[in-house]
Amino acid sequence: MLFALAAASVLASTAYAQTPSLNISQGCQSTLAGLAVSSDAQCINASGLVTAFATLDANTSIVGPVNNWLSGACSQQPCSNQTLSSLISNITAGCANDLSALGFSSSDTQTVISEVQQFYPTVREVVCLKNSTSNNLCVTDLLNDVQGAVGTLSENNIGTIVSSFFGNTDKLQALLKSAACTDCVKAAYNTINSKFPGLITSDDQSSISSTCGSGFTDGKTPSSVSQTAAGVSGSSNNNSGALAAFPVTSLTVALSGLASVFVFFA
Ligand SMILES: *[C@@H]1O[C@H](CO)[C@@H](O)[C@H](O)[C@H]1NC(C)=O
Ligand SMILES: *[C@@H]1O[C@H](CO)[C@@H](O)[C@H](O)[C@H]1NC(C)=O
Ligand SMILES: *[C@@H]1O[C@H](CO)[C@@H](O)[C@H](O)[C@H]1NC(C)=O
Ligand SMILES: *[C@@H]1O[C@H](CO)[C@@H](O)[C@H](O)[C@H]1NC(C)=O
Ligand SMILES: *[C@@H]1O[C@H](CO)[C@@H](O)[C@H](O)[C@H]1NC(C)=O
Repeated sequence: MLFALAAASVLASTAYAQTPSLNISQGCQSTLAGLAVSSDAQCINASGLVTAFATLDANTSIVGPVNNWLSGACSQQPCSNQTLSSLISNITAGCANDLSALGFSSSDTQTVISEVQQFYPTVREVVCLKNSTSNNLCVTDLLNDVQGAVGTLSENNIGTIVSSFFGNTDKLQALLKSAACTDCVKAAYNTINSKFPGLITSDDQSSISSTCGSGFTDGKTPSSVSQTAAGVSGSSNNNSGALAAFPVTSLTVALSGLASVFVFFA
């Protein structure tokens, strides 16, 4: 959810740069630009998010930038509850008018904060799962598969793809079938099931095991999938000597990211 919120903010801000009809207030823009250089927001790799998206043109695939941003975020220590609270408070305050136009009321802030605090560690673990065979994040492989099936996932294409896709249930079903029973999805299923027992109901579990086979719900960690979220046991990113996969700690990157934001917003 937080990732989605952050991604939406930056996608919206890059979209704003290209299509001035998308109307993001000055205050919201400076809040987002402030997050890009905030040391507190490094746990979601906010500087990498801006760097990855600020210079993206509307016909270029978002898969590479999403992959770079997430890989960098996974190599960062997780956000504390306090940081999550501060991040969301800053965004909801700085973008209050913009969010209220989308139906969000500032009285919801506390609810959003506690929901994000509750789900963030699990979402982070799922998003940071890696396919050890391809050496990509599972999310990246999934996006590449989707892209192979439906065409380049660029800002200009996404609207068309989404509408043509949901109008074509055969295509949708074929993709779901091939994507549903993979080791990556099994690892995600295990993670969610262990963190939130009961969230996947026993009815759901039996329909999942009848679709994917009983081995899918045996709770065993697939050997071809590894965890990259720093600070999570068994993560490949816990070697304290390892450099971040993405140079999020580099001041130069942060500053050039900020500079691009200002260039776009100018
Ligand atoms: C942009 O947003 C502001 C305040 O949120 C509003 O007053 C203005 O009418 C909007 N402009 C357009 C073109 O939608
Ligand atoms: C994107 O592609 C369209 C159609 O090919 C073209 O008209 C447009 O100029 C391109 N935009 C950018 C930013 O390259
Ligand atoms: C929120 O804003 C305050 C005041 O500008 C700043 O000190 C804090 O670091 C910001 N929080 C995050 C997560 O960036
Ligand atoms: C963070 O907050 C959530 C609920 O708001 C709570 O369930 C969780 O235990 C907290 N985590 C830590 C590390 O304090
Ligand atoms: C993992 O990577 C291998 C090699 O690229 C690929 O064949 C396989 O489909 C990937 N698994 C998933 C779940 O994407």
